[in-house]
Amino acid sequence: MLLHNPNATRQPYPDTLRAILSASAAQQSRQWLSHWPLLRAEGTPLHSLPDLAEALGVAQLAIKDEALRSPLGSFKALGAPIALARLIMRSFPEQHFRAAALFAGAHAQQLADFCVISATDGNHGRALAAAAQSLGCRCVIVLHAQVSTEREQAIATYGAQIVRIAGNYDASVAHAADLAQANGWQVVSDTSYDGYESIPGDVMQGYATLAAEVIEADQPAFTHVFLQGGVGGLAAGVVSYFWELYGAQRPTFIVVEPAQADCLYQSARLGQASIATGTVDSLMAGLACGETSPLAWRFLQPAVDGFMVIDDDEAVAAMRCLARGNRQDIPLVAGESAVAGLAGLARLMAVPEHAAQMGLDRHSRVLLISTEGATAPDLYAELVGEAATAVLARQQAWISANQR
Ligand SMILES: Cc1ncc(COP(=O)(O)O)c(C=O)c1O
Repeated sequence: MLLHNPNATRQPYPDTLRAILSASAAQQSRQWLSHWPLLRAEGTPLHSLPDLAEALGVAQLAIKDEALRSPLGSFKALGAPIALARLIMRSFPEQHFRAAALFAGAHAQQLADFCVISATDGNHGRALAAAAQSLGCRCVIVLHAQVSTEREQAIATYGAQIVRIAGNYDASVAHAADLAQANGWQVVSDTSYDGYESIPGDVMQGYATLAAEVIEADQPAFTHVFLQGGVGGLAAGVVSYFWELYGAQRPTFIVVEPAQADCLYQSARLGQASIATGTVDSLMAGLACGETSPLAWRFLQPAVDGFMVIDDDEAVAAMRCLARGNRQDIPLVAGESAVAGLAGLARLMAVPEHAAQMGLDRHSRVLLISTEGATAPDLYAELVGEAATAVLARQQAWISANQR
């Protein structure tokens, strides 16, 4: 369940990769995104969890709470909007659109017939729908059979037209591509495929915003970063930024996936972007992806030190653990796909040989990214045993008590 990647290097960040994802382009994306009113202006908090760090046997455990990124409830709000803005700028070069005006909806009339489409397991589609609504263009979202109706409603709220298909996530990606081809629409996908890389590259570049915020937070450098994997875009965006800034001193990266949707683990095993071996129906909906993004893989293969898988029940235990909080640990609302990193860390620390393989010990300073809040509130309440609102109330009480 842990694969030590023989291809991981500590070479300086290669120019070939910098041409695709770079810290300077990430900063530009971040600056442009600052014009989108749906994003929290001050970024997301990075919380230290000392009690959990001690229980797990590491020196420091910090978690970035992407639930607070926007009302959309996940880090995906950093990807689709910037990819959409860049796509529109490329599609209408003669208009010289500027990000601030686009995000303010100033060109809505000119964009009324421009239509974007994407497949989604929920969070990317929600972010794309909201961005399209803000900019004033049309949006069609293709949902596969496993996407819950509460996730569907959350997307439809932002005015997107919904298309339901019977197959799985990968079938919905193919269906979106077919509809786009037939209607002259633009696919804005968070995963790449043959001949389709620049938009998912823009999406990944947007995700690097969260890495930039982590590095700017006044913390000693992290020795380990755990990243959950769907198609690999989140991990690639974050890894690229750390790697470019820290070079050989970069942290150790560990990617964690559901056992049923292990496409990145399989890619590491086979040495090339590959498909999952399992059923791909994990309750970690955002991570239930069967096919690696080949573009993301170009960043992950040379930089991720360990790939591992976890089971759904370990994710549920991690959700409950974060929701509970502790005397020194703030209670947090972390959704199903948010907690794979914590579950992975707990699994490694329970097997000394695996922890040692990844260099994890009582001196380690570990970063986790809680990538979503309760984006499916009914499911969250069922899994955690209490509503997200109750956890948030406990969080508020904890903050009041700790401010004194
Ligand atoms: C909450 C959440 N976390 C993590 C991921 C994984 O991101 P990626 O598919 O880019 O690897 C997703 C993807 O949808 C997600 O929704």
